[in-house]
Amino acid sequence: MTLYSLFGNPVSHSLSPRMHNLAFARLGIDGAYIRTPLEDGSKLKEVFFLQALDGGNVTVPHKQDAFLACDEVRGLALTIGAVNTLVREEGKLIGYNTDAHGFLRAIGSFGELQSALILGAGGTARAIAHALRASGVRVTLLNRSEGNLLPFIEEGFSCFTHATFHPTPYDLIVNTTSAGLKEELLPAPSSLLEPLLKTASYAFDVIYNAQTPFLTLARACGLTCKDGKEMLLWQGVLAFNLFHHNTLNETVIALAMEEALKLSS
Ligand SMILES: NC(=O)c1ccc[n+]([C@@H]2O[C@H](COP(=O)([O-])OP(=O)(O)OC[C@H]3O[C@@H](n4cnc5c(N)ncnc54)[C@H](OP(=O)(O)O)[C@@H]3O)[C@@H](O)[C@H]2O)c1
Repeated sequence: MTLYSLFGNPVSHSLSPRMHNLAFARLGIDGAYIRTPLEDGSKLKEVFFLQALDGGNVTVPHKQDAFLACDEVRGLALTIGAVNTLVREEGKLIGYNTDAHGFLRAIGSFGELQSALILGAGGTARAIAHALRASGVRVTLLNRSEGNLLPFIEEGFSCFTHATFHPTPYDLIVNTTSAGLKEELLPAPSSLLEPLLKTASYAFDVIYNAQTPFLTLARACGLTCKDGKEMLLWQGVLAFNLFHHNTLNETVIALAMEEALKLSS
């Protein structure tokens, strides 16, 4: 039997174990996926090998620690500086970022994009900004405060705070803040958001299982909208396939994981 785990703090709310375990069952693979709550991210590699894991996923707040822990980091994770998927390969820890590719899969049904505005400047914004830039999309970030924007400025992204921003048209607006997750909050003042949404074509909110005020406003402005469920689905599908050295059929994994997500909603 192969064994995988989610690392993070907290991990109890995560849907990943259900998604991966149902995929093992539906694909007839002898594997199991557990949760490992971890307070100290610097212990990640030690705990991974102590548990004799074959692979795993990493969630908040340890994605940067996971990047540092890996013997080798591959793909977009290198530019993002954060790892959410771990694979053991010949005794070494290999790191990937499937949040970024999961986001690109989720917006695959949107039309061609020239420009995107990302609301927020945290870890998820990093994955999405680099994923979009790697796809040739012009990316701008808008955050309520300056501090988290500094690394993006160094990387040459166009960045604004709410105070310095003057709205111009963007094809896609993405909410990566947690505004709207628990309270009825918009990620930016409506005086900023409304003109943006009136000229955009697509809106995406990384939050899932909730109708956020951001998506409600975007729908009212006539945009094609998506919440974060497909991103969650595809980061899981891509991670599961990496665990199996990309030898499996993605559609079959996606069907099993979709079934798991339906059980949870
Ligand atoms: N769908 C998926 O697969 C998926 C994957 C990963 C994460 N997520 C979701 O993504 C969200 C963000 O996660 P993260 O790890 O990127 O968080 P994070 O690193 O803590 O960053 C949060 C960002 O949101 C901003 N922010 C927070 N509350 C705000 C508010 N009330 N108004 C305006 N801005 C606010 C922060 O601004 P400051 O810089 O000013 O503090 C910061 O830029 C979470 O809801 C998480 O569940 C979804």
